[in-house]
Amino acid sequence: MSDDLVLAIDQGTSSTKCLLVDPSGTVVATGSAPVPIRYPRPGWVEQNADEILTSVLTAAGQCLAEIPRGRVCAVGLSTQRESAVVWDRRTGEPAGPVLGWQDQRALPICDALRKKGQAARVREISGLPLDPMFSAAKLRWLLDETPHAAVGTIDSWLLYALTGSHQVESGNASRTQLLDVRAGTWSPELLDLFGIPSTAVPVVTASSGNLGHIGAHRGVLAGLPITAVLGDSHAALYAHGARTDGGVKVTYGTGSSVMRLGEPLSEGVCSTIAWNDALAAEGNIRSSGATVAWLASLLGVDPDLIGHMAAGTASDGVVLVPGFGGLAAPWWDDTAVGLISGLTLGTRPEQLARATIESIAHQVADVVDVMGPVDALLADGGASGNDVLMQIQADLTGVPVLRARSTNLSALGAAFLAGGFTTPISYDEFRPQPGDAAAQRSAWRAAVARARTPHHRS
Ligand code: G3P
Repeated sequence: MSDDLVLAIDQGTSSTKCLLVDPSGTVVATGSAPVPIRYPRPGWVEQNADEILTSVLTAAGQCLAEIPRGRVCAVGLSTQRESAVVWDRRTGEPAGPVLGWQDQRALPICDALRKKGQAARVREISGLPLDPMFSAAKLRWLLDETPHAAVGTIDSWLLYALTGSHQVESGNASRTQLLDVRAGTWSPELLDLFGIPSTAVPVVTASSGNLGHIGAHRGVLAGLPITAVLGDSHAALYAHGARTDGGVKVTYGTGSSVMRLGEPLSEGVCSTIAWNDALAAEGNIRSSGATVAWLASLLGVDPDLIGHMAAGTASDGVVLVPGFGGLAAPWWDDTAVGLISGLTLGTRPEQLARATIESIAHQVADVVDVMGPVDALLADGGASGNDVLMQIQADLTGVPVLRARSTNLSALGAAFLAGGFTTPISYDEFRPQPGDAAAQRSAWRAAVARARTPHHRS
């Protein structure tokens, strides 16, 4: 019996999924476990580091339940990014809540740095706009509560819990806003600006290679080598095979991530390490699936119904700008508000549903507009399963959208890098159709301008 199977663990915001993949790319077993998320105050988004670890062990246990020991040769890990974790180095126990990537509580820390005139310098070194989505300000907030904790991201917490070594993968490290993105090392200047002790941060490691063996106390995972770690969005780019040719991928999740390898061509997108020493340009959108979930809860319907409601109806001038926590790429405007325009007494839930789905596509189109020439969009992630969204996306961007048939691109990317193999992804194609895309884009831009008008804040 050969030992050629790779266990891919994809630790995402709402669940952990595991795949067991053979070198032909065939998925031979799966497992998944939900991860609780809490919203203790407006703008606060918390998870629990132990619950995240438990979800990993549960999902991996399901995946490996029927597999003889010795068949698995490597583990690849893909993780949600930017979320901030603190733990006690002596006990290994979490020292506070995980502040999720959507958490906005560190906004005042960013505002204070902005007032000191540091925003441009932060961007220059880290490649990222000064924003509480990134880990640095969140870690500062956590260290105010628990000054002597070890700090990290989700990948570094899991690497620590599984292997005992305090490290962070370079792509995940580049999302902290503490890394010098060009040097690939912690920036003493940024650590100082955010007040993060250099003794508290993990060692930055490569994305692939020998990243440690899992400890003997971790059940079915005991003894397995971890040979790849990637941010989930980066892992999806890797799985698409967009490793050299400038292909642009869009992952539609709670938020969305538009990414391509190479230098950013606009201030509207960030510079990020994709994996190892490869740079990527990325535009992050805060609210995609989250907008669908919000509308579904407002209407008291199942989120899956929103896509159905949006099919076969027009928005009839209704535009929804989901600036719930401000707008990220390409605007990076924390003062932007959520806004619905074009309401009439005849507006029906179906039109709100349509405007919600359109808002996902418009935001992606805004980022694509500043990404440079694009031949096609490579789509993945939960909401990409919605045909209506995919068609609207093709229409609004004017390029074909190729939707991955697999729903597990992040896990597959981690498996490919961990196992040192790769297999082609198969796609469904959505071609742009003639219509009123230009008018829709212009109505959207007008609504975004209103959402960004300061008097909407009070
Ligand atoms: O940047 C945040 C992202 O990595 C989270 O991804 O799929 O867990 O929503 P997801």
